[in-house]
Amino acid sequence: MGISIGLVGLGSFGSTFAELFKAHPLVNRIALCDREPERVARFANKPSFQDKFSADDAYTSLDEICRSQVDALAIITQPWLHAEQAVQAMQAGKHVYSAVPVVSLPDGDEILDWCDKLVETCGRSGLHYMLGETTCYRPQTMYCRRQAAAEAFGHFVYAEGEYLHDVDSVGANLREVRRRRLASQAGQEWAAQVQRSGGRDLGGGPMHYPTHSTSGPMHIMQAHALKVSAWGFRPPRPDAYFGNEFSNETALFQMSNGATMRICEFRQVGHKDTEIFRIFGTEGTFRENSWVDRANATPLTVDEMRDPLPPEVEEAFRSINPNSDFYGGHGGSHAYLVHEFVDAIAHDRAPAIHAWEAVRYMAAGVMAHKSALRDGELLNVPDWGDGPG
Ligand SMILES: NC(=O)c1ccc[n+]([C@@H]2O[C@H](COP(=O)([O-])OP(=O)(O)OC[C@H]3O[C@@H](n4cnc5c(N)ncnc54)[C@H](O)[C@@H]3O)[C@@H](O)[C@H]2O)c1
Repeated sequence: MGISIGLVGLGSFGSTFAELFKAHPLVNRIALCDREPERVARFANKPSFQDKFSADDAYTSLDEICRSQVDALAIITQPWLHAEQAVQAMQAGKHVYSAVPVVSLPDGDEILDWCDKLVETCGRSGLHYMLGETTCYRPQTMYCRRQAAAEAFGHFVYAEGEYLHDVDSVGANLREVRRRRLASQAGQEWAAQVQRSGGRDLGGGPMHYPTHSTSGPMHIMQAHALKVSAWGFRPPRPDAYFGNEFSNETALFQMSNGATMRICEFRQVGHKDTEIFRIFGTEGTFRENSWVDRANATPLTVDEMRDPLPPEVEEAFRSINPNSDFYGGHGGSHAYLVHEFVDAIAHDRAPAIHAWEAVRYMAAGVMAHKSALRDGELLNVPDWGDGPG
């Protein structure tokens, strides 16, 4: 029942997943792929990789690894590449795990076209796609998912989600992240394309990277956005990072379950990096690591909020480095994302964050940005349905 998996994109973020994918007990063969050969070599030469990796499984292009016999690809390349590469991989018969977001491009209509192609390719091929949304496996989300399943919220009333990541953040400076992503061959090609198209750069506005803010409330409530009205904030001084785009965007959504959802995507804010949501129901509320009802506010620890991993998976992950926490970054979500994808492929079931769910997070952001560009005009949000039951 074991599967083979190829890791495409071993840059800064992809590198943090390599050991986890390799260690999972249901992975019996691992392939490595990056256009920068030294990024492949870093893992190919590791003694810990030799039990599941062979030199024949080192690749320097997506085209090559698509011709290999591996069952699935984990695509952790630059954000403007994800959707096209995911579709290419599925057309080659591979299941796909993709880093967030579905895709980030300057043009919202182009993003929606890719959402369409992704869902269509997935539906037609019967292959599985999973968005590696770290928010969905933060301890807070796991706890709320259980509370929602137990109907402890009652009817959902209101939710808010925020992704605050200042451009000059001390933890992950976004100017530096952009410089690094443009430094590789794939980055240079994009920079040249941007130049040819008149300098319109990577994102198109903060809501074109909406997934850490929209996904928590949408995933927990199992609801999608119907309508949006949004506004933008322009940098007070000219700043090359933002160009003519908004640096912050705030949106209000009408949701399919009758609730209202407020989302903030801020890239220019005097605040430490924060990714948080609050969800209010008629019977109970989750906010700031506490469960709140009419009588009490009960603080929760990380261990109380987290789901358990299967013991054999936990043991395998722990063996990577017995002296450190094995859960990985972004609230310990990495270990769970890897397990969810591998387990889903090994058992031929739809992963928790499948294509139909993933495009809902993305479309909400695209339409919010369009609304902000039209001074808050109320816009409908497209939807592709619930997908696999
Ligand atoms: N919390 C989160 O979920 C989170 C956090 C950080 C990054 N990310 C996502 O992870 C992705 C990667 O970010 P990063 O900082 O590691 O970028 P990076 O530029 O450091 O790495 C991307 C790698 O992909 C490789 N690549 C591109 N095209 C390729 C191809 N056709 N074949 C093989 N390799 C190819 C590049 O050579 C590069 O090594 C981004 O899309 C980002 O949105 C998500």
